[in-house]
Amino acid sequence: MEKMLMTAVMAVVLILSVGYLVRAEKEITAPMEETILPAGNTQSSVETDETLPAGKEIALKLPAKKVNTIPSAAIKEEQTTDEPRAESDYLLLVNAETPLPDDYQAEIVDIPTRNTKGEKTAAEALCEMLAAGEREGMRFVVCSGYRTQDEQRKLYLNQIQKKLAEGLSETQAVTEAEKFSALPGYSEHQTGLAFDIVALSYQNLDAGYAETPEAKWLLAHAENYGFILRYPASKESVTGIGYEPWHYRYVGRVAARAITRSAITLEEYKALGVDG
Ligand code: DAL
Ligand code: ZN
Repeated sequence: MEKMLMTAVMAVVLILSVGYLVRAEKEITAPMEETILPAGNTQSSVETDETLPAGKEIALKLPAKKVNTIPSAAIKEEQTTDEPRAESDYLLLVNAETPLPDDYQAEIVDIPTRNTKGEKTAAEALCEMLAAGEREGMRFVVCSGYRTQDEQRKLYLNQIQKKLAEGLSETQAVTEAEKFSALPGYSEHQTGLAFDIVALSYQNLDAGYAETPEAKWLLAHAENYGFILRYPASKESVTGIGYEPWHYRYVGRVAARAITRSAITLEEYKALGVDG
């Protein structure tokens, strides 16, 4: 048993080293050593999209420099401000090539009715949108909203472990995990502007969700509330992420309408240079 445990720990350390080497240019830095609880621990609802089934907790020693470093202190949680954000603030691009800025600040608020957190304006728009759908008979579940750096790191590592458990090699596991999970510091969820929304009757995060009335309703109405489907099918080469019919991103109504009606991505919209 002890030998198996050691083997598992060594395998994960090896994977992390591979992932780190692949991304060395991103200047990922962290304290020399860090202990986390990976797969199998019971996490809050923000992790329902990317956690493993319950299992034994294993404390891992992460190698140095694996994860970056947006200090949690950079995120203003649950503070109030009288300064409304500019519309263009909601067009912040965060993807595999573009990390969350070190100085990113957002007013992150609790959304108790949806058991999650999000940026204040995005949270209000989310509640308005979901309430409108529910008046038409939809039943939504928000399974992920704002995530801290640490939460994203755990999700990312859990995804790798999940792929390893499926029998993939270390390199394949990292590649496959990153089709649906961003590196810590590179996730939109860390902005508070992204939410994973599923149906009460269908909570699997897979392409089948797209066939539900809830997914179809969101696709048809999200733009009216300032949201876009962030990772459409067939846009993986642009976004770097596979089809996620559940992941909605707040960008404001003007941009949401333009992006949705042009069937483009946030990357493509920003490249047009029309966002100010
Ligand atoms: N699943 C999305 C890409 C994330 O991890 O942010
Ligand atoms: Zn998401």
